[in-house]
Amino acid sequence: MSSKNILTIIGTGFVGLVTSAIFADKGYRIIALDINEKIIAKVNKGEAHFFEPHLQKLLERVVLKKKTLTASSEIIESIKNSNITFICVGTPSKKDGTCDLQYIEKAAKDIGKALESKNEYHLVIVKSTVVPGTTRTKVKEIIEKNSNKVAGKDFGLCMCPEFLREGQSVHDTIYPDRIIIGQYDKQSGKLAKELLKNMYYKQEEEFVSNWEAVYGKITDPPEILRFPLETAECIKYANNSFLATKISFINEFANICERIEGVDINDVAKGIGLDFRINAKFLRAGAGFGGSCFPKDLQAIINFSLEHGYQPQILESVVEVNKKQALRMVELAEEKLGTLQQKQVAILGLSFKPETDDMRNAPSLIVINSLLKKGANVIAWDPEAINEAKKEEWFGSKITYAANYQEALKDADICLLLTEWAVFKALKPQDFQKMKQPIIIDGRRIYDSKDFSKSGIEYTGIGLGITKDK
Ligand code: UGA
Repeated sequence: MSSKNILTIIGTGFVGLVTSAIFADKGYRIIALDINEKIIAKVNKGEAHFFEPHLQKLLERVVLKKKTLTASSEIIESIKNSNITFICVGTPSKKDGTCDLQYIEKAAKDIGKALESKNEYHLVIVKSTVVPGTTRTKVKEIIEKNSNKVAGKDFGLCMCPEFLREGQSVHDTIYPDRIIIGQYDKQSGKLAKELLKNMYYKQEEEFVSNWEAVYGKITDPPEILRFPLETAECIKYANNSFLATKISFINEFANICERIEGVDINDVAKGIGLDFRINAKFLRAGAGFGGSCFPKDLQAIINFSLEHGYQPQILESVVEVNKKQALRMVELAEEKLGTLQQKQVAILGLSFKPETDDMRNAPSLIVINSLLKKGANVIAWDPEAINEAKKEEWFGSKITYAANYQEALKDADICLLLTEWAVFKALKPQDFQKMKQPIIIDGRRIYDSKDFSKSGIEYTGIGLGITKDK
């Protein structure tokens, strides 16, 4: 497989658009496909339709300068003119928590129709997160039915899960820890391997210059592992489930630490994180995990497991602990203020994590809705997510949006920090002095409690044990 290949990428979400931009930057001819004309128009102007560090710059370069990426809604025609197609569409949760495969099915049908009148071999790679068995029983069968072609002979089929994190997706796509290839047959796996090993590259760009400092030096190319399709599908769910388990585990321990004098969960996490069997990553206690992946994927694999006759007790508990964890922020506020009725609550951070404006399953949704139910007035600020949060599906006009963090804090009875944006990390105790009552509940444990106690500000945080003067 060479850069002469034309790649069609169905879906322009985080995975699809970042994958498109990076392949296009490597010189591949990319057609990014979507049904949404507004998104197509935006991408064709070199603009990202969501906030993601570095993506805007990359798109400007590949769309406007290199002209290696175009977006289109002509799905079937574009696939026909390409020789590799990636499926990067969403697999959202249905109301019952199971995985909604309608976009996968539509993509497979479009590929089938395109392949019907095509005589050359075509490689199809599923990147969307799909429950085990989906690539073989849905994608393959739908393509075969609509094309009258045979998998493994007329077209190749792979399932290559994506492990990128929002907010770091450009970095993670360029420097994957490993590449997993689920293959229908050996030929498909071999072709996918040749293509995907080119994703890893050193890029001498100004926007990646500090990556070494942030993520460490990466010298070795990632290991590429090839498995049956179902194993690759399982690896994706096991990966996200394990990371979510680490978070719920540390949050559960944080709740225990809060009951012990002088114990801080951050010290406990540091202590256990040095055990290489545990490792220090994903042990940050806080208001819980959110986003478009962990909550959805956990629910989907729990349901899958139940449907197959096994009750996954650990995973069920991970979800339960996480739901309660966001509400712990409200409990702490009540412990400080008594009633929340008519109290002005400043919220710092709305997105589910920093470096994104994504509000999906953000802990802020649970926290703020509970505060509103208890009669509090909420004023919030976030460096990127305000426009997103204003949409009716999130908060609409239920809360007040501040123009900056100073406005949010001014006259507030209490401040709840929910997202660890760099701008919040840089705040000093004096930045909180203009609050009506300077009380801070740190839901991401970004401040040093000692700095605050010296300045007369009441500070508490998730996992911070009872202090002696209490
Ligand atoms: C997650 C995985 O990390 C990716 O590997 C995966 O590809 C992606 O899901 C996906 O399936 O698409 P993402 O949801 O972007 O990525 O975000 P994370 O950085 O994993 O954070 C998820 C949530 O966990 C955030 O709300 C974050 O605040 C929380 N978190 C994370 C903690 O509360 N503590 C931690 O120590 C780490």
